[in-house]
Amino acid sequence: MRLRKKWWVRPAMEKSPVIITNSKDYKGCWNKVFGNEHDINLELGCGRGDFITSKANEYKNINFLGIDLKDEVLIYALKKVEQQELSNVRLIPMNISWVGDIFDNNEISRIFINFCNPWPKLRHNKRRLTHGGFLSIYKTFLKPQSEIWFKTDDFGLFQDSIDYFKENNFDITYLTYDLHSSDFEKNIITEYEAKFTDLGMKTMFLIGKLK
Ligand SMILES: C[S@@+](CC[C@H](N)C(=O)[O-])C[C@H]1O[C@@H](n2cnc3c(N)ncnc32)[C@H](O)[C@@H]1O
Repeated sequence: MRLRKKWWVRPAMEKSPVIITNSKDYKGCWNKVFGNEHDINLELGCGRGDFITSKANEYKNINFLGIDLKDEVLIYALKKVEQQELSNVRLIPMNISWVGDIFDNNEISRIFINFCNPWPKLRHNKRRLTHGGFLSIYKTFLKPQSEIWFKTDDFGLFQDSIDYFKENNFDITYLTYDLHSSDFEKNIITEYEAKFTDLGMKTMFLIGKLK
């Protein structure tokens, strides 16, 4: 996703309480941000926010955090959160590589990873958000028996991810190579999913559950 830098975006974002720029300050006390003790679900690479806002509308008693690197896409997510008056969503502009620095043990009860970069070259595999290195980091802040819901249109990434999950103490409790033809009823279509489905691509999906 190549986007031209928009210089007005960051100041506009920083004015909003939905955007958390000092995320490290909340390590161990994210519930204070929401003012309740509800479970917190995390979306990595939330993009323009269709998925996180749909989830937040459907599950008002769950808090949602979305992380994305690009202000130019997060601004769209922010507009959706504000327009829909969602008090159970916060957005964090940051690199997911540092996600282990902002959460403490047992702070997150589910992670969603939707259409992350497949990093197909072997020397780049470690950058995949489902790689063992990342799964080890997620385990430092996931509650026991938490789930990671993972969707992609990239076959190689999907196949390798099955191994990453199994090697890192996750059971695969659901798996399909064609989500839209499967019996899975709780799917929310993301921006990328809509685009690639229109191009005839299949969405692959799995749930990895921490043992
Ligand atoms: C292919 S898009 C998918 C967006 C959305 N999840 C969807 O399914 O429509 C990947 C998103 O992840 C974000 N992203 C990629 N690498 C990231 C990183 N290291 N840290 C934070 N965000 C990242 C990108 O900015 C982009 O918005």
